[in-house]
Amino acid sequence: MKLKPLQIGNLVARIPIIQGGMGIGISLSGLAGAVAKEGGVGVISAAQPGFNEPDFRENTQEANMRALGREIRKAKEISNNGVIGVNIMCALRHYKEYVRCCIENGADLIISGAGLPTLLPELVQGSKIKFAPIVSSLKAIQVLFKLWTRRYHTVSDFVVIEGPMAGGHLGFSPEEVQGDDFSDYDEEIKRIIAYVKSFEEPFGKQIPVIVGGGVYDRSDIDHALSLGADGVQMATRFCCDRGMRCRHIFQANVCRGKKRGYCHCKKSCWNAGTGNSECLYSGERNRPSACNTLLPMLGAL
Ligand SMILES: Cc1cc2nc3c(=O)[nH]c(=O)nc-3n(C[C@H](O)[C@H](O)[C@H](O)COP(=O)(O)O)c2cc1C
Repeated sequence: MKLKPLQIGNLVARIPIIQGGMGIGISLSGLAGAVAKEGGVGVISAAQPGFNEPDFRENTQEANMRALGREIRKAKEISNNGVIGVNIMCALRHYKEYVRCCIENGADLIISGAGLPTLLPELVQGSKIKFAPIVSSLKAIQVLFKLWTRRYHTVSDFVVIEGPMAGGHLGFSPEEVQGDDFSDYDEEIKRIIAYVKSFEEPFGKQIPVIVGGGVYDRSDIDHALSLGADGVQMATRFCCDRGMRCRHIFQANVCRGKKRGYCHCKKSCWNAGTGNSECLYSGERNRPSACNTLLPMLGAL
């Protein structure tokens, strides 16, 4: 079966795959541009994009903004104006400035999770940029859509659902992410999709729903689509790509983690923990102290 393109307002991705944002230099213009060039949606992470700038330590904020703007423009260029987004976690300091930076540098969309992006409609007002929250429960999207309709008379342009296999910062307890059977979560996905779709008619627009977490191959994609999703988000899958600076570390950690039993190949590498910290140290410039300050944040994800 041929995959249907993903349409978000006036944006069209030929292939309904969004590459998940991966912080601290893992998804920058190289990956995002390549994914978008192939017809998917490439996503740059706003989590310390300037980590490799010469003045990162002294001027962290400025370095991050400069790098983010440059990476957005570069990704648009690499992809011949493909669909490029930015993942901005709600927990980030200078959230509003990151949103502004995305708009000013021509990003097509913003995906925002690790909390509820309650102010996002206000921050993007007047721009063409599309936006989506990342949610893991029906309750979360209900809270957001109720708030946004009441306060701004709007809802988001699309919604990203991240399930227990997406790892880390989603509000699942360690117990909830144990084991291999997450089929119960399929029902939650269906409930979220039904809820989101009920806003399409009143708001006169399609609101695509994207499912992420543990999506690795075509059968995972087909499964998500069979639940009613319009596309998928994939992140870990891209970490082992030939062009990725961190690929050896990821490959090694997935295998090692698998042996230790805390990271299944079918689950996100994010859960492997050590994979990410080592990944930071594998950069061209090794800045242990700067990296050390990032590790607590990674741990919290
Ligand atoms: C190395 C790595 C870094 C990530 N960084 C971020 C991030 O900066 N912001 C965010 O919202 N999610 C982040 N994520 C989560 C991904 O965007 C994605 O939603 C999730 O990993 C999907 O599951 P998958 O990896 O099984 O495909 C990260 C994931 C990985 C593996």
